[in-house]
Amino acid sequence: MTTETDPYFLTNDIYADIENVEPIGWVEMPDGLRAVMVTDYAAIKEIGTHPDVSRDAAAHWPDLRAGNVPADSLVVPWVTNAGPFSAYGAEHRRLKKLMTPAFTQRQIDKLEPMIHEIVTGTLEKIAPSGPHDRRHVEPLDLRAGFCFPVPIRTIGAVLGVDVDDEQDLFPVIRAGADALFDTSISREELGAAFIGLIGAIDELIARKRARPDDSLTSALIQANEDGDTYTAAEIAEVVRILIVAGYETTVNLLDQCVFLLLTHPQYLAAALAEQPGSDAAEKAWEAIIDEALRHSSPANVVPMRFAIKNIVIAGFEIPAGAPILVSFAGAGRDPKVHEAPDVFDPTRTKKDHLGFGYGPHRCPGAAMAIAEAKFALPALFSRYRLTLVEDPAEIPANDGIITNGHARLLVTLEPNA
Ligand code: HEM
Repeated sequence: MTTETDPYFLTNDIYADIENVEPIGWVEMPDGLRAVMVTDYAAIKEIGTHPDVSRDAAAHWPDLRAGNVPADSLVVPWVTNAGPFSAYGAEHRRLKKLMTPAFTQRQIDKLEPMIHEIVTGTLEKIAPSGPHDRRHVEPLDLRAGFCFPVPIRTIGAVLGVDVDDEQDLFPVIRAGADALFDTSISREELGAAFIGLIGAIDELIARKRARPDDSLTSALIQANEDGDTYTAAEIAEVVRILIVAGYETTVNLLDQCVFLLLTHPQYLAAALAEQPGSDAAEKAWEAIIDEALRHSSPANVVPMRFAIKNIVIAGFEIPAGAPILVSFAGAGRDPKVHEAPDVFDPTRTKKDHLGFGYGPHRCPGAAMAIAEAKFALPALFSRYRLTLVEDPAEIPANDGIITNGHARLLVTLEPNA
């Protein structure tokens, strides 16, 4: 185990990192900041509900208050914001209420036809256009061509952004959200992309104030105008957090499901053998998605939490003020919880995972993400026969320590007869 003076340097090989730190230890992040990282399932649950652990950096990270954290550190956008993500206690509960319109039954009902249209349109775009199209022999990057567009277009459409206008807000929003997850890019690149994202969201909100519609952004503005006490900054923050939290995590869920099914074709064949739309088919896809969330959690660490007092977790002393990273990917592979945790097996009965977090900050978008995957995966695999072009063991991980996916998924693609 490492000590504070000898931290383990995190890479983007997250399973090597998890093995080295397991169950808890000091780590150094790619931009030099130190934190305690926890990979143990039970300890992560304890931290998730611990009264002396906060996500509020402004109140509970002394190094930030003392000016010891470089303003351009890669974690700063994650920990300094006016939204629920970085709030603690009663303030967190107040801000989380602002997101209520995002997850009502009305919103979920509107989502389904939207997802169908977006997935079908995206599948159409990657379709070989005719007998001379060589896409069935020349590789296509499915991560870029399918896993990315589906979630960003879905959350964009939910918020009322014109996702087809490549000259307007959509590309700026997409670039800003991409940059936040890439802890390997330069500070300058991150700064520029982040400023672009903030500007685009301000513009989106200004447009919806001028011309309200039935989008989620208009609903959030309305929640404020109906007498709640949310500020313009808080509304903008919630719009931003919905894009950021709901986008790349879902990209990586689709990425991991595709990768795991192509490398475990017996489970793909079993799901496709069920009558499309039947209960049995639905259960088979749900089991695949659930097992992917356990085996290859799309969210790894979400920066950061802070110890309010000295606390002891899994026998390890975390001093007051220390940043804490919890590894949701590590929790899914905890051998104390799962037999043969490294084996992907959707038929296992116990798939307990923390892929959507635990405690008050647990993901409110879980149903939305699962709805996307549950439609996107059968639609993709029933339309095309896909073959991975590269040796699966040689495909590099995506950049950064925050999410868990692949740098690319090169496939050949043939329409199913
Ligand atoms: C597969 C897709 C997704 C995964 C794996 C995922 C994972 C997570 C995790 C692990 C957390 C907790 C972070 C922590 O406690 O440190 C979280 C929080 C959050 N997620 Fe998701 N998420 C996904 C999709 C979504 C979607 C689609 C939305 C909304 C559109 C969303 C919105 C949020 C928000 C707003 C939070 C912050 C909640 C809070 O701090 O109270 N997520 N997510």
